[in-house]
Amino acid sequence: MAMLPILEFPDPRLRTKAVPVGSAQIAEPAFQQLLDDMFETMYAAPGIGLAASQIDVHQRFLVIDVSEEKNQPLVVINPEILEKSGEQVYQEGCLSVPGIFADVTRANEITVRFLDRKGQTREMRVDGLLAVCIQHEIDHLDGKLFVDYLSALKREMVRKKLAKMRKHAA
Ligand code: NI
Repeated sequence: MAMLPILEFPDPRLRTKAVPVGSAQIAEPAFQQLLDDMFETMYAAPGIGLAASQIDVHQRFLVIDVSEEKNQPLVVINPEILEKSGEQVYQEGCLSVPGIFADVTRANEITVRFLDRKGQTREMRVDGLLAVCIQHEIDHLDGKLFVDYLSALKREMVRKKLAKMRKHAA
């Protein structure tokens, strides 16, 4: 397994709109390996979700595990949100925007259809943190980041803070 480098805001590659995964691709060893590497990278970070866009692969898939024990890995390929309802506010963070957290309002409950890592179609109705996480990761596939929900002024402050952090780390 291998750790994958994660793109960070404001890298323009994070704005790429991802294309669907071909069904024949899912069974390929290289694709399955990439899923394993994404889980390893996400758990090590540590994070609860990682979209392919964040590792500079612009195809529509993502990995998630919101469990406390980190034992409920979920692979979501070519997701489609069929239904949304309610509202919730959650303080979100993102591996591509390290150290920054901000309240974002999203649907409380969603129904999502996707392919799992065996290529099987699945449909799930989820709420709470898992619903937040799936919506956040699908945004990545559309080139959208959680900081886009903030005001332009706040987003600029985030950009400056990250630039400063990188300078200190260098
Ligand atoms: Ni994110």
